[in-house]
Amino acid sequence: MNLRVFDSEQQAAAACAARIAEAVRDTPSLVLGLPTGRTPLNVYRELVALSARGALDLSRASTFNLDEFFGLPPEDAGSFRSYMERHFFQHVNLAPERIHFLDGSAPDAEAECARYDAELAAAGGLDLVLLGIGANGHIAFNEPGDSLLAPCHRVKLGRETRLANAALFGDDPARVPLEALTLGMASILQARRVLLLAFGARKAEAVSAMLHGPVTPRCPASFLQLHRDVEVWVDPSAAGPGRGVGATR
Ligand code: PGA
Repeated sequence: MNLRVFDSEQQAAAACAARIAEAVRDTPSLVLGLPTGRTPLNVYRELVALSARGALDLSRASTFNLDEFFGLPPEDAGSFRSYMERHFFQHVNLAPERIHFLDGSAPDAEAECARYDAELAAAGGLDLVLLGIGANGHIAFNEPGDSLLAPCHRVKLGRETRLANAALFGDDPARVPLEALTLGMASILQARRVLLLAFGARKAEAVSAMLHGPVTPRCPASFLQLHRDVEVWVDPSAAGPGRGVGATR
C-alpha cells in the first residue's frame, strides 16, 4: 500500500480529482466506485469545477455508489442518493442510466443486494474505487466484527457509525437509520485500483491499523493490504504523529 501524506486535505482532494479526471481521460467508459460522507466532499467540488471547465467528460463513465441507508427512499434528504445528487450528479454530465445505486426502500433487501452485485458484474466490476475509512476501520458499510461478508448485504450500523452520519439527519443520531445496504468486501477487493482518503486526527488510529496492523475483520480496511494497487492519501493529522511527508510503506 502506498501512503502519501499531503500538506492539507484540500491538496489531497485536488490531487484525487485530478487522478480521477486522468483515469476518465485514459478510459472514458471507466467504472467508478464512489463514497459519501464528509471525506469526499472537496473531491466532488473539485470534480464539478473540472467538469465546468470542460476538463472532465463523464458522459461514457459509470458510477456505483458503495452503500445506502436501508429503509430510506432515494428522495429522502438524508439518503446517500440525495447527497450524491446535491454534491455531484446534478452538476456533471453522467448519463442517468449509468448512475448505479442501491435502493434503500427496496422491499426485499436480499433481492436488492443480488440485483446490485449482478449490475456491477455486468459492468465488469469497478475500475477505480474511491474510499473513505470509518474511525472504526470500516470501508463502505463493512463494519468491524467477527467476520466479513463478500457479497453486497444488509448490515446493522454500529453506534459510532450512526453518530458519524448524524449530520445528514439534522445532527440527531437517533434519526440515523439502524441499517444499511452495502457493497461487500469482494467488490472492493476486486476493484482494479483503490484510492482511499482519510483526513483528521479522528482517523489516525484506523489508518495505522489498516496499514500496519494484522489483516482482521476487526479492521475491515486492513484487508486492503491484500490488494495490489492501493493508494492511501491522507493529511498530516490522519497520518498520525511522526509520519513524514511522502512516507511510503
Ligand atoms: P466520513 O466517513 O467521510 O464522513 O468521515 C467515512 C466513512 O465512514 O467511510
